[in-house]
Amino acid sequence: MQTEIIAVDSPQFERLIQALKAGELVGMPTETVYGLAGDAFNPRAVAQIFAVKERPKFDPLIVHLPDHVPLDLRRLEALELIDLKAVPKALQTGLKRLMKSCWPGPLTLVLPRHARIPDLVTAGLNTVALRVPHHPAAQQVLQHCPALAAPSANRFGRISPTTAQAVLSELGGRIPWILDGGACEIGVESSIVGLHPEGCGLELLRAGRYGLEELQEISGLAVQRAQQHPAEIRAPGMLKSHYAPDTSLRLFDAEEELPAGQKPGQIGVLFCTPPGTALRQELERTQQPFWVLAPDRQIESVAQNLFAGLRTADNWAVEQIWAQRPEGKTGLAHAVRDRLQRAAST
Ligand code: TXA
Ligand code: MG
Repeated sequence: MQTEIIAVDSPQFERLIQALKAGELVGMPTETVYGLAGDAFNPRAVAQIFAVKERPKFDPLIVHLPDHVPLDLRRLEALELIDLKAVPKALQTGLKRLMKSCWPGPLTLVLPRHARIPDLVTAGLNTVALRVPHHPAAQQVLQHCPALAAPSANRFGRISPTTAQAVLSELGGRIPWILDGGACEIGVESSIVGLHPEGCGLELLRAGRYGLEELQEISGLAVQRAQQHPAEIRAPGMLKSHYAPDTSLRLFDAEEELPAGQKPGQIGVLFCTPPGTALRQELERTQQPFWVLAPDRQIESVAQNLFAGLRTADNWAVEQIWAQRPEGKTGLAHAVRDRLQRAAST
C-alpha cells in the first residue's frame, strides 16, 4: 500500500474522510503526538489498529471526540460512551470541572464505559478512555467522523511521532493517508486520569501536560499518582520499557556525569538546555554529536522536541545516547522525566 501525506486544505482531504468512514486508518495530528485513527464503533477498523501497530490486544485505546458540542457527563451518556450510573456522585462535579477547563486539550479521562463501545477498544475493561483534542486538523476530521480510536501512530514500544514524516517512517506502507498538521505543539502524550479504584478521588495514570497539583486544583478532588500494579496494567503507557530508541540510552542530570575522554562516534548527547562553553568545545573537538532540546531553556520546548530528539539521536550511529533529565515540578517536567525513564529501561 502506498502512503500519502496530505494537508487539510488538500483536494484529497475528502478521500481521507471517505477512507475513515469505510473503516480504513489514517495518521492524524493532535496537539500532543500524532495518532493512528480509525472509527471507534467499527470493530474491523479497531482490529486493524492493533494489527498495524503490532500492539498487544490487552492495551486499550483512547476514543477521540469532537468539540462542537460542549461535553459533560450527561452528554457523554447520551452519546452512549459512558455509564453515568457507575460514576460516583461525589466525583461528578470535579469531573465536570476537568472537562470544562481542560477540553479540548491534552487530558484523557477514563470513565465507566457504555455497553455499546466495542470490547476491543477497551481491551475488555469496564472503562473507556476519552479525549477531546485541541488540534484544528484533528477537529476537522472529527466533525465528519465523530468517535475515533487513536493510539499514538508508532509501532508498539517505539518512539511516539510528532511530525507527519515520523508517522511515515513508523507506518509508511501500512496506511493509505497521513494528514499533515505540522509539528505537535505539546510533544508528549495526554495526561490520563481515572477514578481511584477505592472511590476516593482520582488517579493520574499517565503524566502529561496537566500535572498532579494542577489537576487537583481544577477538579477540587484528591488526585493520586497510580502505582504500577504487576497483575493489572491499567495504562500500558505505564509499562516500564516504552518509547524506546534502538540505541542504548543513558540518563544524566548534571554535565559532570557525562563520561570523559570518548572516542569519536562513541556517545551522542541530548541536552535539555545549552551546555557550558568548555563542554561544547570538548564535544565538538572529539566529534561527539549533540543536540539541545530547548535553546530557550523552557520546559515547553524540551517536551515539544523530546521525541524528535530521540529519533534524531537514534540515527547518529553512536554506541550510546546520553539524555539529560529536565529539572522542575510542572506536569511537563514530570512527563518528560517519565518518558525518558521508560525509554532508558530495557
Ligand atoms: O495524547 C494522547 O493521548 C495520544 C494522542 C494520539 O491522542 N494518544 C495516545 O494513545 O497516547 P496510546 O494508545 O499510545 O496511549 C493510550 C494509553 C495506553 O497506555 C492505554 O493503556 C491507556 O491509554 N488506556 C486506554 N484506555 C484505558 C482504560 N480504559 N483504562 C486505563 N488506561 C487506558
Ligand atoms: Mg503510545
